[in-house]
Amino acid sequence: MSDINQMPREEGIDHSLSLMREGYMYILNRRHSFNSGIFETRLLGKKAICIGGNGAAEVFYDTEKFKRKNAAPNRAAQTLFGKKGVQALDGQNHKHRKEMFMSIMSPDKLKKLTDITKKQWELAVDKWEQMDKVILYEEAQEIMCRIACQWAGVPVQENEVKRLTKDLGAMFESVAKVGPNHWLGRNARNHVEKWVGEIIDKVRDGKVNPPENSALHRFVWHRDLEGNLLDTETAAVEVINILRPIVAIAIFINFTALALHHFSEERKKLESHDEKYAQMFVQEVRRFYPFFPFVVALVKKDFTWNGYKFEEGTLTLLDLYGTNHDPEIWENPDLFSPDRFAKWKGSPFGFIPQGGGDYFMGHRCAGEWVTIEVMKVSLDYLANQMEYEVPNQDLSYSLVSMPSIPHSKVVLKNVKRKL
Ligand code: HEM
Repeated sequence: MSDINQMPREEGIDHSLSLMREGYMYILNRRHSFNSGIFETRLLGKKAICIGGNGAAEVFYDTEKFKRKNAAPNRAAQTLFGKKGVQALDGQNHKHRKEMFMSIMSPDKLKKLTDITKKQWELAVDKWEQMDKVILYEEAQEIMCRIACQWAGVPVQENEVKRLTKDLGAMFESVAKVGPNHWLGRNARNHVEKWVGEIIDKVRDGKVNPPENSALHRFVWHRDLEGNLLDTETAAVEVINILRPIVAIAIFINFTALALHHFSEERKKLESHDEKYAQMFVQEVRRFYPFFPFVVALVKKDFTWNGYKFEEGTLTLLDLYGTNHDPEIWENPDLFSPDRFAKWKGSPFGFIPQGGGDYFMGHRCAGEWVTIEVMKVSLDYLANQMEYEVPNQDLSYSLVSMPSIPHSKVVLKNVKRKL
């Protein structure tokens, strides 16, 4: 008798359109209907396996079983990641490049980041007090862009900030878009790669001197395993791998404001300036709201997991959103409840808004601590340092369009500093 299980299969030629139509819910919907944490489908004309849940994340992050080279669709490389960056590396090359990223995530550098973040929020509140209305998503992107450049040591002129903010935003807003909105992202990437590339060349020529140990400095002088400097294009892709995602924190800041608005009882708990509660609140925002729906990899070599056969080369999607809403991991997953993190023991595979597993050995987000620190400062400003009104507007958000952003982008009026 064979001990290989038949994987539930979605019949049909291709389901890429369903994926676009159902967005964050595509995998979860089928996990429910098949009553299975795993199923087979066809995406972009190829067989694909979708998995979700704790055990699924654990196997997905086993680097003996999965690889990243050539896994991401071209549209993601052309907008979100760029080419030859850390996301598509495997094995020793990945480990070495990832160390370069993790070397700038030390406690002293994170402290510097929170100081910069506080200063930028101070300036923003001063500015917003003079404004009739504030579109939080757009303003937060600009604040984040300023923080990102300053922290990474990337010199940016005042008259370049707005364009750079828009370009970095377009890179992550355009991945799942079609037509002109997708091309906006491609053009933005080409433009920013050229701009950062020129800065890198100037650093190497001694014409620009970024602070030692800043991301720009580290990445410009990083040597690969053969002892060579990264070529300009690759170094630019990696510097952008710092700038772009810091701007993307604006999405979580928007959802933070939304949570404060919808769950106003939470505000009271935050007023005590309890650092632990702020951390729990931020974690719940990252768990509850949609951001990246899934991550992709290719099966490295044939293996069997839970009786299911994974064949070499098969595209595999790990459900991030669904795992963060998995009732087997989370009690009442669709309830916004920061308190759930009070006794949370931490899990590298059950809570995966920014990927899972080990930071150094696998592809887990290099910027998770950065995200949490920046969100905590931002939460303190939104909850404790300023007053504002939230006028009538469409605060709903989609579970289809990726990335999801509240439709009104969160408009604030009558912003005043709290005395
Ligand atoms: C805005 C919130 C963020 C979200 C939702 C997010 C999410 C993710 C996800 C899902 C991955 C892929 C994990 C995988 O492939 O298994 C990732 C990778 C990565 N993220 Fe983030 N991220 C965020 C912020 C940041 C920040 C602020 C930085 C840098 C300062 C950053 C840098 C990176 C890098 C370099 C990788 C590639 C890691 C690797 O391939 O080894 N991210 N992120």
